[in-house]
Amino acid sequence: MSSWSELSSVVKLWSPFGSVLLILEAKDAKKLLNSKTNISKGKDYNWVRPWLGEGLLLSTGEKWENRRKMLNPTFHFKILEDFMHVFNKESQKMVDILRKESQSGNTVDIHNFVTRCALDIICVTAMGTSSNAQDFPDGDYTKAINDYRRLTKDRSLRPWLRFETTWKLSSLYQRQQESLKMLHGFTTQVIAKRKATFLREKEQAAREDQFGEENDTEMIYFKSKKRLAFLDLLLQVQVEKGEKELSDVDIRQETDTFMLGEHDTTSSSSSFTLFVLGSYPQFQEKVHEELDSIFGNDKHRPVTSEDLNRMKYLEMVIKESLRLYPPVPFIQRTLSTDIPLDDGRILPKGATVGIFIYKIHKDADVFKNPEEFRPERFLPGLESYDALEYIPFSAGQRNCIGQKFAMMEEKVILSTVLRNFKVKVMMPLEDLKLLSEITLRSDNGLPVQLMER
Ligand code: HEM
Repeated sequence: MSSWSELSSVVKLWSPFGSVLLILEAKDAKKLLNSKTNISKGKDYNWVRPWLGEGLLLSTGEKWENRRKMLNPTFHFKILEDFMHVFNKESQKMVDILRKESQSGNTVDIHNFVTRCALDIICVTAMGTSSNAQDFPDGDYTKAINDYRRLTKDRSLRPWLRFETTWKLSSLYQRQQESLKMLHGFTTQVIAKRKATFLREKEQAAREDQFGEENDTEMIYFKSKKRLAFLDLLLQVQVEKGEKELSDVDIRQETDTFMLGEHDTTSSSSSFTLFVLGSYPQFQEKVHEELDSIFGNDKHRPVTSEDLNRMKYLEMVIKESLRLYPPVPFIQRTLSTDIPLDDGRILPKGATVGIFIYKIHKDADVFKNPEEFRPERFLPGLESYDALEYIPFSAGQRNCIGQKFAMMEEKVILSTVLRNFKVKVMMPLEDLKLLSEITLRSDNGLPVQLMER
């Protein structure tokens, strides 16, 4: 019997947390993604565990199942429609900031701007308050996220720090503790404030025999009477089921998970999409044509849900960009059962198994000339892939809960930028130094210039 290293579709690697069997082909990935029992995350997620705790991304078993059921309704289309206002406001703010850079003829790393916009969006949509990342790029919360990310990377480059004992004695660990204090402090404070308002409203509603009018102007996004947005839904569950079922720490962990799950991925995807469009003016031209057919010369009208439905070409571009630059290039599980593969080999119980999404998306049997950027692959009805061969949002039980949210948000961000600007890249696409730093990034940035349209 040959070993894993001789088998081209699954390779054995050493990660800072031990050995990993890495799946490179969709046929093997399907076995794992279809498994109902193998839903526990792998060891590499320990990088983010101190921040996210047992939130939806990292929890497993019954706890994960209950939370997933609990949180699913927060992605109801009615709630997402309410968020259009936030997507528009923050995207417009980003364009105003970018316009100043454009007028000064500056080259910008577009990823930084989109990241701050996405962070403000998730803060308002999940918690009802802004992180002010766009207004204050050097603010404490934004800085703490960047520090946490940098320290995670620094740790991964020092193999001796993978042991908890050496790690905890290091100065990096002390600095990570400081970032965590800031990260947890911010969400704890916002949640406490919202909880006080929520309980006050409930009392008032009970008195007035109605849900209660929204008085706190900062919380204007929580007006829905029946469908509760993320944080209010969690608070409602806490009121109904008690703190034993859902404690304040549980609420913070779920909130932190959504903060990271949303802003890191959508910013990676949106900024790579803008960079790719800048690299291929012919495709950018087609997006401009589509947007002109929807908005005419109007650069300011807020995007509506109907507009989003008409952005068919932009959607194909986003999907193709997600294929070549998947924001989550790897996912990982720890197996609780053996998984037999078609060729007779077995992924053994207890192993850490990764799925290399980035590589799976480049399978030439599924995507002809896979290295080519070709949005037409995603023409409705002409797709060459099945649901487990194209997996930017993963698939199966633990797929991404926020994929509709992501698509809507990205379309608003991208269309707002592209209605206003033409993107010109300041570095060839081939020179990007891709790396996985929690999500996919370019180590040498995504430098662009924006030309007013
Ligand atoms: C382009 C944008 C996005 C991409 C590519 C993406 C990708 C993914 C992937 C691949 C997973 C599976 C991770 C794993 O198996 O370990 C995942 C899970 C998750 N995503 Fe996303 N995501 C995106 C946007 C979002 C947004 C907007 C939110 C929230 C608003 C979100 C929240 C989550 C959560 C909470 C999970 C864990 C779900 C569970 O285990 O039940 N994501 N995402």
